Amino acid sequence: MANVIIRPEWQLPDRLVTPENDYKNRRGFLRDIGLTGVGLASAGLMAATSKDNAKFYPAKRNQLFNPNLRKPYLMTKEEWATGYNNFYEFTTRKELVRHPFYMDKFKVEPWKMKIDGLVKKPWVGNAQDLIGEMGKAGALEDRVYRFRCVEAWSMIVPWTGFTLRKLIEKVEPKPEARFVKFTTFFDPANAPGFGMYPNYNWPYTEGLRLSEALNPLAIVATGIYGKPLPKQNGAPIRIVVPWKYGYKSIKSIVRIEFTDKQPKTLWEQAAPDEYPFESNVNPNLPHPRWSQKQERLIGTGDQVPTLIYNGYGKQVAALYK
Ligand code: MTE
Repeated sequence: MANVIIRPEWQLPDRLVTPENDYKNRRGFLRDIGLTGVGLASAGLMAATSKDNAKFYPAKRNQLFNPNLRKPYLMTKEEWATGYNNFYEFTTRKELVRHPFYMDKFKVEPWKMKIDGLVKKPWVGNAQDLIGEMGKAGALEDRVYRFRCVEAWSMIVPWTGFTLRKLIEKVEPKPEARFVKFTTFFDPANAPGFGMYPNYNWPYTEGLRLSEALNPLAIVATGIYGKPLPKQNGAPIRIVVPWKYGYKSIKSIVRIEFTDKQPKTLWEQAAPDEYPFESNVNPNLPHPRWSQKQERLIGTGDQVPTLIYNGYGKQVAALYK
């Protein structure tokens, strides 16, 4: 039989005009945050593409963030960091997330995002516009961070990104804003995890206190290993909060909202005593089902002691006095 590839309806060649449906959604989406007409251009909907932004990778390495505490393990191998992923929207089987069965249907371009809530300058646009804007402003940098999952494994990963602070400055939070809520996409037709794990309160949401989000360690990551983020690591945009357990570092963000109340997060709603809102890495506070004293350094087979605030106490401990 001939190999005929039938393109499903949702799969459009990159440069095709916006489908009507999407266009309508976009109108609704813009109306929601009060942007129409002239707002479009300033909202950056003359979308940039990942090709336009390829020139920003690799970014300059910021040597202030180099966790050489764990010599000789200066870096987790790329194949591990991109091949062992928690991304429950697809599957709970970490080694399988990157499989084309899951990733082929996951379209990350164009990628609509909005930043709204208690801000003076709400923003709506395409993720690549935001990345381009930050790239042009010289805000993209490489940082090597320790990354500690609540499941007691860890990696050492070089991210590319810009500080959350830069993004916060862009939208100018109102004085009442005290928290930042992050939301991932919701697309049950193209990501089987939503249907397979119906008990979770989808979409995946996370949150930080505004003071935490303003800490210079908190970044919006757009790349890893000197390249744009692969889909399984949360393309096109995620956050990385290295002193907190990995589940706070939410992937593939579509909305960032500033609020005056502490947002409910997916994990906190699922099991508040296991995954509380704060979730700072702490070897002295066991998870109800396991110790947090040690961690398995992925790719090495070694167990190493877990560090308070994941080794970033100097930078963040003052937040929790
Ligand atoms: N973000 C979304 N949207 N969905 C997820 O399942 N898992 C979290 C976090 N962000 C998750 C997510 C958890 S538990 C971890 S440990 C990290 O992503 C894993 O990030 P990595 O795959 O880049 O190592």
